[in-house]
Amino acid sequence: MTVLVVGSGGREHSLALAISHDPSVEAVHIAPGNPGTAAIGTNHPVDILDPDAVAALAVQIGANLVVVGPEAPLVAGVANAVRQAGIACFGPSAQASQLEGSKAFAKQIMAEAGVPTAGHRVCHDQAELVQAFDEFGAPYVVKHDGLAAGKGVLVTNDREAALAHGAGSDQVVVEEFLDGPEVSLFVITDGTRALPLQPAQDFKRVGDGDEGPNTGGMGAYTPLPWLAPGTVDQVMTEVVTPTLAKMRELGTPFAGLLYVGLAITKTGPKVIEFNARFGDPETEAVLPLLETPLGQVLYAAASGSLADIGPLEFSDQAAVCVVLAADGYPAAPRKGGRIALPADTDDVHVIQAGTALDSQGRLIANGGRVLVVVATGKDIAGAREACYTHIGTIDFPDGFCRSDIAAKAV
Ligand code: AMP
Ligand code: GLY
Repeated sequence: MTVLVVGSGGREHSLALAISHDPSVEAVHIAPGNPGTAAIGTNHPVDILDPDAVAALAVQIGANLVVVGPEAPLVAGVANAVRQAGIACFGPSAQASQLEGSKAFAKQIMAEAGVPTAGHRVCHDQAELVQAFDEFGAPYVVKHDGLAAGKGVLVTNDREAALAHGAGSDQVVVEEFLDGPEVSLFVITDGTRALPLQPAQDFKRVGDGDEGPNTGGMGAYTPLPWLAPGTVDQVMTEVVTPTLAKMRELGTPFAGLLYVGLAITKTGPKVIEFNARFGDPETEAVLPLLETPLGQVLYAAASGSLADIGPLEFSDQAAVCVVLAADGYPAAPRKGGRIALPADTDDVHVIQAGTALDSQGRLIANGGRVLVVVATGKDIAGAREACYTHIGTIDFPDGFCRSDIAAKAV
């Protein structure tokens, strides 16, 4: 089959790579892609927030399957337009994407479906904010309602800062603070059936020791040796099944990738957030361990036939990925820094996220998160060591990374 991957970040590079390894996939196209994806398939410069343009491209290249990576095109209705054009699309409709697009909507669904999550209040003014802060106490968790590329959430003990963050939006969600390690669980679903991938952990803060502001994610690893056996089954039963049922009941079935962001609290796993797409950079760590051919799985989910696919198979190796970000990220990443990459090895490959070619065809930084270095190994310690060793051979003077990704897990 011919597959079109929509997006231009590390997640899309990683998806395109895994899909290209599926023997049933003859051609991979990426819109718009980046210099990394150009080595896997054909890049197409298209405005991915324009649903008709994406659908027209899918028709033009004879795509059998379109896979939408980021949330913004999903919320804009790209999956609706592709399906309207008669092509299978992996990604939820605009309506179903509201599970990520609106924090207030997600909280309402969770409440109605009885999903374990943090208590919350939807606030519209200062008085409501103050009341919610008094109710839940510190640390304060304040979330802007709409899509904010990881910047809409503030978790702080500083009440003034929390109030100021809340004042920046017409509708904010204030939540109870959930204490416990975070887990990202990806679930592939056709709206009814659902197959979990192997859980991963992401590192959201920019600095070592989880210091500094939230980012899109600075690194990830999988598997999670400390996670109690049975947790995935528990989350499928308590979270995924009732959420999918509620979405079907509303007439907006959720088909695509349900990203369940969890805190493992003393009283069990609780949902921190839903996303409507693969997480980045967890995807870069999880996909290299997936042994089931990805194109066929995504096609089955997109065409309502996930029942034909058995449980997903994973290798028993471990994977660690570390993000190289441009200096100044997340506030003001510096663009244009030159990059020279060593060759990939058997165990380590470099995924491109925010890169471009300059006028002379040289690789440069063109975004906040620039590269994702992904290593596999027989255990987390081995993968981690291979990852950092490889980073030492990358020439990117205007970049930085965290030095403690997966350190505690070792
Ligand atoms: P979100 O965009 O909702 O995932 O929030 C971004 C990050 O903020 C999460 O990955 C958590 O680290 C943190 N966070 C969000 N909500 C909570 C909560 N209720 N309790 C503790 N931490 C939270
Ligand atoms: N890794 C966090 C996210 O994709 O939202």
